Amino acid sequence: MQRFMINVLDLTTSISRAMDMVSPVIMGHHQRVAYLSYALGRAMETSPERLALIVLSASLHDIGAMSLLDRKRALDFEEKNHHVHAEMGYNHLKDFPLFSSVANVVRYHHHPWNFYSDDNSDDTIPEAAHILHLADRIDVLVDYSRNLLEQADTIRATVLPMSGTVFSPLVIDAFHAQSIKESFWLELLSATQTDHAFRNIPEIHADWSLLNIVEFSWFMARLIDFRCSFTATHSSGVSAVAEWLANLVGFSQNECQMMMIAGFLHDIGKLGVPTELINKNGKLTDEEFNQVKPHAYLTRKILAPLKNLPGLVDWCSFHHERLDGSGYPYRLDSQQIPLGAKILAVADIFTALIEDRPYRKGLKITKALEIIQDQVKNGLLDHRVVSLLSEEAEMAKYVCLTSQKYAQTRYRDFFDALPECLQAPRYDA
Ligand SMILES: [Fe+2]
Ligand SMILES: [Fe+2]
Ligand SMILES: [Fe+2]
Repeated sequence: MQRFMINVLDLTTSISRAMDMVSPVIMGHHQRVAYLSYALGRAMETSPERLALIVLSASLHDIGAMSLLDRKRALDFEEKNHHVHAEMGYNHLKDFPLFSSVANVVRYHHHPWNFYSDDNSDDTIPEAAHILHLADRIDVLVDYSRNLLEQADTIRATVLPMSGTVFSPLVIDAFHAQSIKESFWLELLSATQTDHAFRNIPEIHADWSLLNIVEFSWFMARLIDFRCSFTATHSSGVSAVAEWLANLVGFSQNECQMMMIAGFLHDIGKLGVPTELINKNGKLTDEEFNQVKPHAYLTRKILAPLKNLPGLVDWCSFHHERLDGSGYPYRLDSQQIPLGAKILAVADIFTALIEDRPYRKGLKITKALEIIQDQVKNGLLDHRVVSLLSEEAEMAKYVCLTSQKYAQTRYRDFFDALPECLQAPRYDA
């Protein structure tokens, strides 16, 4: 059976980098918090294995902040509703085996040290969460447009008095000892420029089967799609139609499975696009479209650690390329676009046209096909793929809607199982 060796930290770093692309205000936050957590954990003489898990938690910690507004709120030192994105992050991570070990750390990364008792005798909150909590708050206190060394005293004066109430005394002691060193702050400044700011922690490798890749694609698609009820089932529809078309085109069984995975993963670069734009009720302005366009590029960046699946990565990141070279972001032409990406492009457009959007109901099949065939005439989409789709359009619709119906149930089940404060998000901009 085919196996895939994955460097987990590379993967989470690429996911968090994309998440931080959502705004210049947020850029580098996850990497810096990962460095700070590492530095504090190391000063507390945490074992290398536990340090690796702390870094992993830190590199995913704000994954539950779904919109740009949520992300900006997460950076507010005084914000009182931090538990919302932390709880959401926990609920995403706990169901995915690779990240379930860090779900609890993410869940409690904003809980005060004395949340459950004055002496913290209750150990519900893992120590790693206390480390992450302080690391996160230090990063939001820094003004990166100013000299860091000039701010060190003020930051120390802000957080040190919170020892034993908001922050763990052990973590504060570690910060107290480390923060007198200029190198602590200077390393923080360079944390976003180096891939391996962490010394002496073991690499985390996962030996994945194809099923694990499928689980990963579900996990990522859920992060993207569940940001709004209108997009909640998009990737599922694309995935099913793309797999079905791949089969008609004559792809092998293995390639068809990869196409199914590609459907789930193609838009993961949207982690770096503000949710408010994705769900805009109306046409995007040119300026807004320039904020959406990078998602195909970011998809490639996020998937880069899946080194032994180059075909899958190409299919996903080329799904907005067009045969005449007018697509984005690489402006490839027909010769350069692999057939898999051509199939994915057709599946993506077909699904988008027949599903409901915030600004319109799903189109009838005949209208959708008309639009797609026009794009073939204009030299944008592959003639053969569209012919196969057109010949069995009703079947394509059935395949798409059946998959989306199942995804809709998963969407409802996910939110029904959450506490009341985490309602299904609706961002109608
Ligand atoms: Fe957070
Ligand atoms: Fe954060
Ligand atoms: Fe896309």
